[in-house]
Amino acid sequence: MSVLRGMAGWAACAAAVAVCGCRTEKGVAVKMSGAVEPSVVVKPFGKTKDGQLVHLYTLTGAGGVVMDVIDYGGKVVRLYTPDRTGKMTDITLGFNEVAGYETHDKYFGSLIGRYGNRIANGRFTLDGKTYTLPTNNDPGGVPCSLHGGDKGFDAYVWHSEPLSEGRNVGVKFTLTSPDGDQGYPGKLDVTVSYWLTPDNVWRIEYEAVTDKATPVNLTQHLYFNFKGEAEGTILDHELTLFADHITPVDKGLIPTGKLLPVKGTPFDFTTPWEIGRRINADDEQLRFGGGYDHNWVLNSKGGKLAPAAALYERTTGRFLEVWTTEPCIQFYCGNFLTDQVPGKRGKNLCHRGGLALETQHAPDSPNQPGFPSTILRPGQTYKTVTEYRFGVR
Ligand code: GAL
Repeated sequence: MSVLRGMAGWAACAAAVAVCGCRTEKGVAVKMSGAVEPSVVVKPFGKTKDGQLVHLYTLTGAGGVVMDVIDYGGKVVRLYTPDRTGKMTDITLGFNEVAGYETHDKYFGSLIGRYGNRIANGRFTLDGKTYTLPTNNDPGGVPCSLHGGDKGFDAYVWHSEPLSEGRNVGVKFTLTSPDGDQGYPGKLDVTVSYWLTPDNVWRIEYEAVTDKATPVNLTQHLYFNFKGEAEGTILDHELTLFADHITPVDKGLIPTGKLLPVKGTPFDFTTPWEIGRRINADDEQLRFGGGYDHNWVLNSKGGKLAPAAALYERTTGRFLEVWTTEPCIQFYCGNFLTDQVPGKRGKNLCHRGGLALETQHAPDSPNQPGFPSTILRPGQTYKTVTEYRFGVR
């Protein structure tokens, strides 16, 4: 199976797609014969602490990939992809119940906004006015605002509806973030669509409009472990990042504003490298991050759909390409994960038990005049696309 398919098949044939609200029997062994009937099935997934009903969408792609997604934070709960023998395994971290996200980790598989990653001191100035955000994180003892604040987009129940177009299936999430939400200016109307295509591409389309100038930086925080959820660390996965520079950080994981060439450093993933190979190198940036937790500036520089990353795991043959219109990608290798977090199958997770590849603009851009702007103004439409293209080798 090739994953370098561009948009081929995206708007392909118009076969009927089952979109229903009934229960389904979803096994782990979905056939990859090409005969899979694409479908979207919706059922209840419990309630949040404050009593809001959460829905679970099971997307079965015509190529066989199966994804369980909830409208609470747009979180991907389970993601089944084939290994090289066709065996389907859940390759993402998540929880079987809403309470798991509320108790343990709200970012697992989640949509992230209004601003992905960190804003220094929870403060920025825009058009002469200073805005204050909740400081909900303090790496290295330095407070900052992380992933949109105390109640980011990960913690909202979004409005949701099933999507189908030809043999593509998906779910559309919409959210109105009110003016002043977590300190951010402007009412922001956000739409995020997840699509599964017949060639096993998970395509994410982000859109937003605002009524006042505001920073916007939306991303997805899915963790991958190609050996399977709670099946050890990701240190043996081989990563490629199509990026010659990172934005180095200080001890608070805030960019210094400089660009650091990766050549000759443990951050050079321009050719495939096992993640664990250089992770313990004597390197200040690795010490600050507790491992890899950095923003790579893509050689494509954003604006058009281009390759950002590739990931491969030798024993299962699972292979992924990440394509994006965004200029940067955060590679985070789960340094904050611990064995105190229960997995979905009764096994606990572990330190570096998953890795995230979050397409984005650079962290702290609202305070960094040298970085591409993340400010959305009234009359403009924020639009980005990211594709996770699954395959095997
Ligand atoms: C990542 C971030 C990490 C950590 C993680 C959530 O996006 O780079 O530092 O905060 O989210 O646990």
